[in-house]
Amino acid sequence: MKNRVLKLLRQENDYVSGQELCEKFNVSRTAVWKIMNQLKEEGYGIEAVKNRGYRLETIPDLVTEAEIKSFLQTDFMGQSCVSLAETDSTNNYARKLAEEGAPDGTLVVTECQTAGKGRRGRGWVSESGEHIFMSILLRPDIQPANASMLTLVMGLSAAKACQEILAERGSREKIWIKWPNDLVWQGKKLCGILTEMSAEMETVRYLVVGVGINVNGRDFSPDIADKAASLCMITGHPLHRAELIARCLSHFERDYRIFLETEDLGGLAEDYTGRLVNTDRQVRVLDPGKEYTGVARGIDQRGDLLVECEGQVRRVYAGEVSVRGVYGYV
Ligand code: BTN
Repeated sequence: MKNRVLKLLRQENDYVSGQELCEKFNVSRTAVWKIMNQLKEEGYGIEAVKNRGYRLETIPDLVTEAEIKSFLQTDFMGQSCVSLAETDSTNNYARKLAEEGAPDGTLVVTECQTAGKGRRGRGWVSESGEHIFMSILLRPDIQPANASMLTLVMGLSAAKACQEILAERGSREKIWIKWPNDLVWQGKKLCGILTEMSAEMETVRYLVVGVGINVNGRDFSPDIADKAASLCMITGHPLHRAELIARCLSHFERDYRIFLETEDLGGLAEDYTGRLVNTDRQVRVLDPGKEYTGVARGIDQRGDLLVECEGQVRRVYAGEVSVRGVYGYV
């Protein structure tokens, strides 16, 4: 109910009378008044004017269910949503929910992770309430061998969402993807994705796609300060995290459906390759035992990186090998 009231106030962008709210949601004046007080307590600036009604003046940068849902335009992605003040890792929490039967598309989001997980057993610094830490639970009917491609799908969707939000704020900066799924700007990392799976021989029980996006902070810990960037460093202004989350979910819902049609990246590879920072650049393929250098040419429909080396095109599989730019991270 609170979510719906908030959504309406945001859509109207003007005064909405108490009477209209009562009729629309079939509740009493007292109930409307209570909701407005709740919203004020959560940090929303609500102006109440006699004979005109209520108007939303300012919105806090919260990643609450109400705030996310007031932007959400998906059919199922994020429609079940759990927002936590703190948790060890949203991926862990989403896995717990998955075991309890939570539906496909469930979103878990938090202000702060105490044990955020990165790829290859690394951690993910997740202290402040400035960034996005979220996980999406998926229950796709696909072969386990195809599941890792969803990490690339999310990379693409997150890149499009970030790019769109930046463009709406007047920025023309391009958000690039560093294969397989880091988002980068000026050679620095903006976003990382960690996908975890529970599967049996032939079936995926569930997948959890975890996304960390650096949004509003500028001060990174000394060990990552020269490698990390945030979206507000691009715009010079803070961004609204709930809006970005909703935008990511919209793109991901669309891209996920395209992926499911063929169970590969055939329908997305061209878009992905157009955003790939490595395309036509020299890369060092850190293949254990036999490192080599070549020129990246994009991805194939399985998400493998195509690297041209000594006149031959080699396929680099993301699960086993990482790639560095010859002169640095990209
Ligand atoms: C990487 O190493 O690039 C992947 C980082 C993934 C971080 C996100 S933050 C939300 C989710 N929960 C986690 O514990 N990790 C992912």
